[in-house]
Amino acid sequence: MKILNVVGARPNFVKIAPILRQMNLYSTMQWQLVHTGQHYDDRMSQVFFDDLQLPAPDVFLGIGSGSHAEQTGRTMIALEEVMQDYQPDLVLVVGDVNSTLAGALAASKLHIPIAHVEAGLRSWDRTMPEEINRICTDAISDLFFTTSAIATDNLLREGIAPEAIHFVGNVMIDSLKANLERARHQSTLLETYPVQPQQYGLVTLHRPGNVDDPVMLERLLEAIATVSERVPLLFPMHPRTQQRLETFGLQARLDSLDQVWVTPPLGYLDFICALSSAQFTLMDSSGVQEETTVLGIPCLTMRDNTDRPETVIEGTNTLVGQDPDRIIQEVFQILEGQGKTGRVPDLWDGNTAERIVDILAVWGAALPATTPCSTVV
Ligand code: UD1
Repeated sequence: MKILNVVGARPNFVKIAPILRQMNLYSTMQWQLVHTGQHYDDRMSQVFFDDLQLPAPDVFLGIGSGSHAEQTGRTMIALEEVMQDYQPDLVLVVGDVNSTLAGALAASKLHIPIAHVEAGLRSWDRTMPEEINRICTDAISDLFFTTSAIATDNLLREGIAPEAIHFVGNVMIDSLKANLERARHQSTLLETYPVQPQQYGLVTLHRPGNVDDPVMLERLLEAIATVSERVPLLFPMHPRTQQRLETFGLQARLDSLDQVWVTPPLGYLDFICALSSAQFTLMDSSGVQEETTVLGIPCLTMRDNTDRPETVIEGTNTLVGQDPDRIIQEVFQILEGQGKTGRVPDLWDGNTAERIVDILAVWGAALPATTPCSTVV
């Protein structure tokens, strides 16, 4: 069986690493890794390949930034050629970024079966580009790997055949468990900033809905400023947020905050080390909601909805929206020892990649001896 694995953005790299390691255990599986180049800065890409000990991609497309249509369209065009050359039996995509959708669309037009890892997640908010990517990818996938019973139910409601859906758990947690000890030993990040373990908050902010509007970004910045008067904050800055702060003239305000330590985007080991030592996180990321739930760290999500509801229902996550008063009040509660505790959702146990690849192996064994890979008409 030949599998083409498509990745492009920071969270994809974390998800694919354990899957490739498992694929290597099967002599019947040949695979290639395509990096679309959606994320291209060393700090958003190469450092993840290094930290996660990922092999260099077989193909790098160098797509780069652009509007959603440009980025997705350019990726599809380039991927079509790769797929025609490699003739895979299956294309595997992960997550919900533009590269995920482009990989699924290109494969589907060539009649190549698609496996979607992290299928069925829904925020029910179609203003999020990721929600469109998730819905469309799931509409054309053939094998669905879900992280929770809620995601499985979402797919069933959308008419996906039950036998195509596999509840396997959360592959992001495989990477977390496999690397946390190494991160704690290797990362020197916390020595670089004047913060003490369990006595700082970790902030991330990059959702277009939070950072692309100057009024919203300023409001969140003021909430961060008030919080930082009570507790130091470590703030790894996403390139999008950095650009917006500069464009909107908010950089000086951020620079004026004595207890906010802004860092460049962090590599994987530095990030999970900083996360695991934090007292709480204040953020708008997706994956971090899951990682904090497993680490038992209170997580305040600056969004009105989440595509990971089990982190709220079972885990340590609280949706605090974008109201500064609410954000400040929730942080102060945590500082007073009233942070949310939770339990680890089912199958978030570090063995998800093994389950995924076992299922792929069974699927591959059922292929005809020579599969006629599709050609463009
Ligand atoms: C993307 C994903 C988002 C994911 C996030 C993780 C989509 C729709 N969004 O959002 O789901 O949570 O990645 O980081 O796919 N830039 C750089 N260097 C880079 C990459 C980007 O400077 O290596 C800048 C570019 O100017 C770009 C901006 O950051 O315009 C945003 O990048 P983009 O990939 O469009 O979306 P993200 O906000 O990173």
